[in-house]
Parts: sequence; structure tokens; C-alpha cells
Amino acid sequence: MKRSLIAIQDFSVEELQELMDTANDIIANPAKYSELCRGKKIATLFFEPSTRTRLSFEAAMLELGGAVIGFSEAQSSSAAKGESVADTAKVISCYADIIAMRHPKEGAPLVAAMNASIPVINAGDGGHNHPTQTLADLLTIYREKGHLGNLTVGICGDLKFGRTVHSLIAALSRYEGVRFVLISPEELKLPSYVKKEILKAKGIPYVQTTDLEAVMPELDILYMTRVQRERFFNEEDYLRLKDSYILTPDRLYNAKTDLCIMHPLPRVNEISVAIDDDPRACYFKQVLYGKYMRMALILKLLKEAGTL
Ligand code: CP
Repeated sequence: MKRSLIAIQDFSVEELQELMDTANDIIANPAKYSELCRGKKIATLFFEPSTRTRLSFEAAMLELGGAVIGFSEAQSSSAAKGESVADTAKVISCYADIIAMRHPKEGAPLVAAMNASIPVINAGDGGHNHPTQTLADLLTIYREKGHLGNLTVGICGDLKFGRTVHSLIAALSRYEGVRFVLISPEELKLPSYVKKEILKAKGIPYVQTTDLEAVMPELDILYMTRVQRERFFNEEDYLRLKDSYILTPDRLYNAKTDLCIMHPLPRVNEISVAIDDDPRACYFKQVLYGKYMRMALILKLLKEAGTL
């Protein structure tokens, strides 16, 4: 049966574990996987800029022995001539075995999944969701901490528009003993629908604050995010808020020695490059683990579709 990944909630906790187990096995035994997708194609349909997500999907398919087609901007596709997402999905189903789609409009990958005859992966839709970044985040936490429960997770920056944040909260809320510390300016607080539908609905403990320094000693994970310039309605607001949180080595003076510092990237200036050599910096590990989780995801969805 064809299955897609549109929101991280589409997968059970058991399935997330299965993906992490596969990714860990790929890391340990890459040769075992190098021919599994021979003759298969992924189409990367990116209507918005990307470095990590698009190229890691492409690297993932190539390392599985498959091939890649696609485009990296809407202007080079027939969307520029007015073609709908639904028609694009039907057309690409004639050329490829699986689609990874990024789009500035919330819900566009869902529309694609409803119209494609092949699996569709949401590679980021507007300010909504980014489930495959969450796959990278989960494997990073799992490998760093050895578990996904019983953690105090600080999430800092643009919690309003940061789609990676919304997907990460949806995922981690399903593990026992997770508590969230939500650190943001007033204007960039977590949307009410995420609080209502996930945190309040499940009784997940959380606090909201503007003060990173005050909460730093409690944190097991610090997930920094970029202020999402492209989602602001006016430049003035962006300029006022963009430097709200800048993590520098001196700001870690009261942090745990085993704090895990994460960031989905790209960063602008939220984390000083002086932190990159700190053993607690995990953001480039996230990049690498993202490729392995995307390999595991491609295998799972192609197997379930009966393509492999
Ligand atoms: N983390 C992430 O989605 O990065 P890109 O925008 O470069 O794909």
C-alpha cells in the first residue's frame, strides 16, 4: 500500500524506532545497502531554497544505488506557468518511484500525496511541518543520550514560524518524561494550535520564557533556531527580533556538561562559530544523521509501496 510522510505523527513510536534501527545499521554496514534501490528514482521537487534537505535526499538515494531527478526552484518548473501541485504530482508519478517535496504553502505536500500514485515525503511546508528534520533530530538525541524520554528539552528562537520546532514537539511529546522549556520573544511564541493540540491535549509539561540564561542549568537539550526571515510580513519586525538569542561560549557558563546543543541549520548568527568545537555541539552530527534517516525512510516507503 502506498504510504507518505506528511507529518511526523504519520509514524508510530515503533516505526520511528524501526527507522532509527535501520539508520544505525546503515551507519555500521553501508555496503549492505548500496544496491538496494538500483533502478529506482527519487524526484526532489523543491519550490523553496534548501541545502541540507534536498542534497541529503539526493545523497541518500545515490548511496542506496538509485538515481535522482528534480528541480531546486519553482521558477525552473512548470509551476512558473501556473501548473498546480496536484497536476505536478500526477506527472511526476509517471517518472519517479518516490517524491520529496518542499513548498512555501502549508499543506502542499499533502495535496501532492492525495494526487500522486507514489509515496510523497514532506520536505518542509511553509511554517507548518518538517518531519524529516525531526527524523534527523531524533537519531541525534538517541545516539547522544541513549534514549528519547526523561529529558528537559529547551527550544529557543523562532517558535512561531520554525516548522522544525512544531514537528520536533509532536515527536518528542510521545516519549515518557519529556518536558519542554520554550524560550522565545513574545512575538515568536509557539502557535496556540501546537500548544492546544499537542502539549495541552497530552498533558505534557512545558514552560514559556524569554530568559535563556535563567533556564540553561535545567536543560538536557538546547535546540536553537533561526528567526525565519522569509515568513515575516515586514522587514522591520524581522530586524527587531533577529538577534534575540545569540549563543556564545560565555553563555554556556551554567549549562550541563553533557548538554546537547542542536540546530536544524542553516544558522545565521544564533550560535557563535566559537561553539563549533565544543563537544556539546551536535548540529553537524544532525546533518549527517539526517542523510541516514532519509535512507531508512526511502527504503521503508518503497518497501510498503511494493516497489522494492
Ligand atoms: N534544516 C533544513 O531544512 O535545511 P535546508 O533548508 O538547507 O534544507
